[in-house]
Amino acid sequence: MKPKSKILIIAGSDSSGGAGIQADIKTVTALGGYAMTAVTAVTVQNTTGVSSVIPINPKQIGKQIIFTCRDIKPNGIKIGMLHSSQVIKSVAKALKKVKTSKIVLDPVMVAKGGSRLINQSAIKTLKNELIKKAYLITPNIPEAEVLTKIKIKNLEDMIHAANILLKLGAKNILLKGGHRKSKYMEDILLNRNGIKIFKNKKMKTRNTHGTGCTLSSAIATFLSCGKPLKKSCELGIKYVNQAIGSNPGYGKGHGPINHLNSILINRKFR
Ligand SMILES: Nc1ncnc2c1ncn2[C@@H]1O[C@H](COP(=O)(O)OP(=O)(O)OP(=O)(O)O)[C@@H](O)[C@H]1O
Ligand SMILES: [Mg+2]
Repeated sequence: MKPKSKILIIAGSDSSGGAGIQADIKTVTALGGYAMTAVTAVTVQNTTGVSSVIPINPKQIGKQIIFTCRDIKPNGIKIGMLHSSQVIKSVAKALKKVKTSKIVLDPVMVAKGGSRLINQSAIKTLKNELIKKAYLITPNIPEAEVLTKIKIKNLEDMIHAANILLKLGAKNILLKGGHRKSKYMEDILLNRNGIKIFKNKKMKTRNTHGTGCTLSSAIATFLSCGKPLKKSCELGIKYVNQAIGSNPGYGKGHGPINHLNSILINRKFR
């Protein structure tokens, strides 16, 4: 089987393999794409938590992007954790040299346990320099709260926050509902043309490590193959849903999901 498209992943490494660049590569590969990477940080972690983070020099991150894409042009780009203002600026500058319109930005800011991963100045740079450049942004609820400065408790608040993000210059917003304490998961896709709500049953499991990384990479892969936005989000959410449902139960903490569930999706939607 030949890869369907080429995707550049700009994100941090997760040594436990469940999230970050490892989850991104597994997702892109399982869905039939070719994955390239620009590593932004190396984390030492397992399913019980993060032990340390080693940042990569911002210049080297930019160089990974430019040098790699000069040779193999990506059809889509997924951006994950960018830990500092300098890194965000370096990535924004490098992306000017890579003419790929399908950029999915997962604005990772808050870790599963609730701790902030980036500082105020990085949040400002993200707002000013990157959000407008992305084709789609995929914040979770805590991240949308930080970006919009409003509290999100229910679906109405989610819609309100997505509208604020639209006013901030985002083209398309997929606001993920994974953090709401409700029976159903509601992810909302909003742009100037309207709104679509994806509703799924919340699965009772602690094994949801890397759901966000996986979802943004899956959507970037579907977009890079030429699928429309709404369909790409629908397929991405379905892929994550099946991956949670068939999680292998590894580790003593928040275990990984199962990235090898793509075959069903391909058959169903081809
Ligand atoms: N328990 C669950 N059952 C079903 N779907 C879930 C569950 N938890 C998360 N999801 C889905 O997973 C996707 C990712 O959402 P989530 O809000 O968890 O992202 P995230 O917080 O960025 O994840 P991460 O912690 O990996 O960064 C969404 O489509 C969400 O609806
Ligand atoms: Mg996330």
